[in-house]
Amino acid sequence: MLVIAMDGPSGSGKSSVSKGVARALGLRYLDTGAMYRAVTWWMLRQGVPVDDPAAVAARAGEPVLSVGTDPDAPTISVDDTDVARPIRTDEVTGAVSAVAAVPEVRRRLVALQQQIIGAGGIVVEGRDIGTVVAPDAAVKIYLTASAEARAQRRSKELTGASVAATQADLARRDHHDSTRKVDPLARAVDAVEVDTTSLTLPEVITEVVRIAKGADADD
Ligand code: DC
Repeated sequence: MLVIAMDGPSGSGKSSVSKGVARALGLRYLDTGAMYRAVTWWMLRQGVPVDDPAAVAARAGEPVLSVGTDPDAPTISVDDTDVARPIRTDEVTGAVSAVAAVPEVRRRLVALQQQIIGAGGIVVEGRDIGTVVAPDAAVKIYLTASAEARAQRRSKELTGASVAATQADLARRDHHDSTRKVDPLARAVDAVEVDTTSLTLPEVITEVVRIAKGADADD
């Protein structure tokens, strides 16, 4: 069954596009970034110093995640607590890159992601989906957009955040995510790059659906 890997930097539109494509094609939807955020939320709540990789690694096996994959109502909980809202706070956003760089965290979450993907029928968004989590995915998309466009979209979502401050924060996270040693943000050699800078959301969804149908027909 079809697996669509959707990678790209923060603010490239991955979540809206992935959900839209999943709806259009009747597929499930998995937000792997939410899983790294959920582990980060748990570490902060437990008082684990998140900038100490050894301390994070030592506790990486403890939080129990459960993830719902309906694109109309995705859910995420840790140890039976619904964390859909708290994982979007500035505190978690500021700490998640450091936690996501810890190999023990990645190993555990990649295994869980592969289990959820199972036989397929799913759109999976993240940073390392086409390269590491689902290297055999029939469709690999790498979404990009200019730094300005990405910051503009994000600052619209976050009330009160200036475009300049948001752009600086995105640049910091992207640098961290693409230069880490384990499974960095990277475009798979066989991924199709879609630049969303001057496209509307429906246009991007239509383009990805077109690419996916073409790949399905080739199989
Ligand atoms: O997509 P997002 O902003 O919710 O992702 C949160 C963080 O998790 C981001 O800084 C990078 C990291 N991440 C990752 O390392 N690997 C993934 N597959 C998904 C997200």
